[in-house]
Amino acid sequence: MLRSTCNGPKATMEGTLMDAPSKEFALAGSLEELKIKGRLVVHGGHRPILVIYDRGRVFALDNRCPHMGFPLERGSVEDGILTCHWHHARFDLESGCTFDLWADDVPICPVEVRNGDVWVKTNFTHADLAAHWRQRLANGLAHDLGLVIAKAMHGQLAAGVPQAEIVREVALFGARNRDGWGVGLTILTALANILPVLPEEEAYLALFHGARRVAADCDGEAPRRERAPLGSRPDPAALKRWLRRWTNVRHREAAERTLLTAIAAGFSPAELADALFAAETERAFADTGHSLDFINKAFECLDLVGWQHAAALLPTVVGQMVAARGAEESTAWRQPVDLVALCEKSTSELADLLAAGRGWRDWSGRAALAQQLLGDDPARIVDALKEAIRAGAAPADLGQSLAYAAALRVARFGNANEHADWETAHHVFTYANAVHQMLTRIGTANIDTHGTAVRGVLHGAMALYLARYLNVPPARIPGDGGEQLDDLPADPETIGAALLDAFDRQRQVDLAARLVARHLTLGHSPQALIATLAHAVLREDAGFHAYQMLEAGVRQFGASGDTDEGRHILIAVARYLAAHSPTERASLQTADIARRLMQGGELHQEAGSS
Ligand code: FES
Repeated sequence: MLRSTCNGPKATMEGTLMDAPSKEFALAGSLEELKIKGRLVVHGGHRPILVIYDRGRVFALDNRCPHMGFPLERGSVEDGILTCHWHHARFDLESGCTFDLWADDVPICPVEVRNGDVWVKTNFTHADLAAHWRQRLANGLAHDLGLVIAKAMHGQLAAGVPQAEIVREVALFGARNRDGWGVGLTILTALANILPVLPEEEAYLALFHGARRVAADCDGEAPRRERAPLGSRPDPAALKRWLRRWTNVRHREAAERTLLTAIAAGFSPAELADALFAAETERAFADTGHSLDFINKAFECLDLVGWQHAAALLPTVVGQMVAARGAEESTAWRQPVDLVALCEKSTSELADLLAAGRGWRDWSGRAALAQQLLGDDPARIVDALKEAIRAGAAPADLGQSLAYAAALRVARFGNANEHADWETAHHVFTYANAVHQMLTRIGTANIDTHGTAVRGVLHGAMALYLARYLNVPPARIPGDGGEQLDDLPADPETIGAALLDAFDRQRQVDLAARLVARHLTLGHSPQALIATLAHAVLREDAGFHAYQMLEAGVRQFGASGDTDEGRHILIAVARYLAAHSPTERASLQTADIARRLMQGGELHQEAGSS
């Protein structure tokens, strides 16, 4: 007689007669021996198997506790329940299912009793591995179980599930199970964006971090309520006006329905970006830039998971957008210079100049404009933007210049500042990156209608101006002016190891910057350096901002290329990361335990012998 289980494989009752044992089965011992000892351990090729005799029945299961690998042979059985003696997780002996969700289910395997001998099937498998691990990921996300998420991520990748499909599963879970876009979905998207430059093992870590942060965001939250588009199909200009109107009066329901109507009407990603950018910039530097960053990330997420999910994902940003606090409410933007009034006055002037602009492809003044944006006179900063437009700069060029200037603010962050001030520099950089990405997406095809979008550049420029104290005095940027840095190692592997070693210690900001400069000035591969920086983030219990900084830096480096500007950008990333490392690395430990359990390692024995 066969009994079905929650784990897929099936256990047989004592005395079941079968045909000749296949090669997949191994002899565990005689039934008599098992009855006397109560349990036997078979050391199969992949993992040890525990065979248990309990009240007339025989069971076989992975001997390694699914929690942290403690040998279950040392556990106890009572009333059909197996208890691990390490952290006392309890399991249904027949199915392997756990009563303690944090521990995960223990895999079981078929066992046969034949002519007085006990045979066990030594491989643990499922008919549809991808479906099995997809379900496990759903369970892990639903209950915010880091270990289950890590195993499911490993299992899906090993089963050949495309990374984009995994990102889609997690993103849609996050959109459904939380009332609004959050930190978790931002981290997921940021890490998914850099998957193409990561080695395989780092991709596992990146997906794990993204998924666990989405699960944590959704834990205990009310699920999202669906809204419907309007029954009519107003023209694009009206929908854009309405979105701005509802944002101004903080009417979330109206803004969501307007956006859903635009999606249902088939607006292109560029048109949707234009409408949301215009609404978002009704407030200056809203929520210290996070609101726009989240909007940009929602667009990037749709690029990754497919625009057929626009109605599920994009409206999740509206709640924060309409509720965000604008910088116009803060004293710093009003006194001693009324920066808000300056932005409002300059917006129409910039829009008019853009409308008259031609020959955008020929403009090459990004580095020079960035230096002007770092100035200490806001009126001159606006003049520099106007001059750039007259010289042929397109909106995206302004955004990229702003992002480079903001990266320089981080790269020159003075060590005399308070530690919390790093976040001020970071906010401007990630906001500027979002402005650049959004303006690139919007493009120039409809320049006459999106002049308001340049408000984002003005707001970013003023936020950058207000953060000028962070560079007083400025930190030196290594590698400039042909500086050789010959006291540092020369080969890329040693530089990479030294960089990771620097991240192992607190306050190695300047050393990290010098090693990055050394790597790039010697002409070594930027991709290898980016992989090292990514590893430095993924091995930590990184804060939200570290993921943002890494991804925005990689994006901006990609736009600038392996140039002086690119070097400055990666130095900014390294300095920020060095200021925030090391951490406890608890998540890395969870990911490592999951990986070793999935690969069949005997964790407890390995730990005991180390
Ligand atoms: S409960 Fe078994 S190792 Fe933790």
